[in-house]
Amino acid sequence: MRKKLELLERRRAESELGGGARRLEAQHAKGKLSARERLDVLLDEGSFVELDRFVVHRSTDFGLDEQKFYGDGVVTGHGRIDGRLVYVFSQDFTVFGGSLSETFAEKIVKIMDLAIRNGAPVIGLNDSGGARIQEGVVSLGGYAEIFLRNTLASGVIPQVSAILGPCAGGAVYSPAITDFVYMVRGTSYMFVTGPNVVKTVTHEDVTMEELGGADTHAATSGVSHFTHDSELACLHAIRELFRYVPQNNVDDPPRGRSTDPRDRRDEALLDVVPDNPNKPYDMHDVIRRVVDDGEMYEVQPDFAGNILCGFAHLGGHSVGIVANQPAVLAGVLDINASTKAARFIRFCDSFNIPLVTFEDVPGFLPGVAQEHGGIIKHGAKLLFAYCEATVPKLTVITRKAYGGAYDVMSSKHIRGDYNIAWPTGEIAVMGPKGAVEILFRKEINDAEDPRAAMDERVAEYTEKFANPYVAAARGYVDDIIDPRETRPRLIDALDTLRTKRDRNPPKKHGNIPL
Ligand code: HXC
Repeated sequence: MRKKLELLERRRAESELGGGARRLEAQHAKGKLSARERLDVLLDEGSFVELDRFVVHRSTDFGLDEQKFYGDGVVTGHGRIDGRLVYVFSQDFTVFGGSLSETFAEKIVKIMDLAIRNGAPVIGLNDSGGARIQEGVVSLGGYAEIFLRNTLASGVIPQVSAILGPCAGGAVYSPAITDFVYMVRGTSYMFVTGPNVVKTVTHEDVTMEELGGADTHAATSGVSHFTHDSELACLHAIRELFRYVPQNNVDDPPRGRSTDPRDRRDEALLDVVPDNPNKPYDMHDVIRRVVDDGEMYEVQPDFAGNILCGFAHLGGHSVGIVANQPAVLAGVLDINASTKAARFIRFCDSFNIPLVTFEDVPGFLPGVAQEHGGIIKHGAKLLFAYCEATVPKLTVITRKAYGGAYDVMSSKHIRGDYNIAWPTGEIAVMGPKGAVEILFRKEINDAEDPRAAMDERVAEYTEKFANPYVAAARGYVDDIIDPRETRPRLIDALDTLRTKRDRNPPKKHGNIPL
């Protein structure tokens, strides 16, 4: 027995080495952690349980039978984050560049199946040269097995991807299907075809960083959701995410542990919205003053800044915040804002996280680029997402709620559960000036003093329509409140909606306008 135990220990030690000391050094020299070091940071200390550490590849071509490494380039298993179970895979670039072989894929598939069966999240740490070239189509088949499970797991368990090195070719499509993509500046990049192929095909000169680096995907493509300056910051941020998300689609999200008083009124909320309706303000200031301890875990902060999405706790309830941002493009809805918020809403709805919407929206963005870019179908995604969501939906109208955007932003008509407005609310088909220009153009042009005539009509329209009372008179908003009461009101509504039951008609699935 002792001899056999010694052999086991030797092999276990060998499996910890990945592709060997030289390659590990090269990994560190690039400012990157090893696959195992990453798991040590990500998971609660000592909680990692490894599976399949003795798996080796089965290839014989190109001399591969001479080169075998225990684990075959990916470390898989389960561990804990704040005591809660998560399944993980961590690609090891020191073994064949982290490239995906048949057995590598089988290991990932095994933990994905376990995660789905046991109702626990999957976190993938990606650092790979893509398909293992020597294995050809078998490797492609392995990817497809993973894509299928990503898709089947979508909406059942949270799936998170960290890109911590290269992620190229078809390999990008697994992270793309997962719920959240994290990237690190300077060391991670994602693209379908790299700079060399781009140069050959389109004659464009572009660096890896420009084409598919962290900032590009954070601000331009919207492929990633979070950007960090280091792997350590990135891995810690993933741990933080799990303060807000449940284990699976039939679990409740975790409660916040804040001691922020539930009945806290915030005097500063009286002064956030400027008297001049055309002046911007930062909606972060509203959100911070309402949520527990002023903390929001913002999703895609660098993309479509005209809408804010993020997680927070409110009286301990985990919530998804969606908010128009008057400080960027006046908070208008455009293509990017619509797709960003729609995806976030669908995540929250899948995982029983109530939605709290802060609304100050002048409408959809006009323009040829937006129309030709498909604002109709992209805006419809946001509408569809809000309409189909059955989680508790709370809306606070702080100022403008104009036109179609009023309907879209979680209005009463699309099953808003608790819709309230501040006295500064303006709920109407359009802003006073635009409305008057359409309704009274002739009268104003013919007037002796067109300017005075215009001002008079604008004042009349503002008095009549640009307020929250017309909507409140019809019950389209449930109440008009003192802004200082926003926090206690929302917490009380979340308490009452804990037992909400709402179902959509049975169907295979809807056909969201993609
Ligand atoms: C087998 C690979 C590999 C691969 C890298 N290696 N990529 N082995 N299959 N795809 C090996 C190298 O031979 C080398 O082995 C080690 O990993 C490190 O690679 P380097 O090139 O030395 O590292 P670096 O200079 O950092 O460059 C990293 C890289 C480059 C940019 C990722 O290796 C590269 O371009 N690899 C090929 C990428 C690619 O074309 N993949 C297929 C894409 S198609 P040694 O023994 O020297 O350590 C695809 C389809 C997926 O993925 C389809 C899904 C539908």
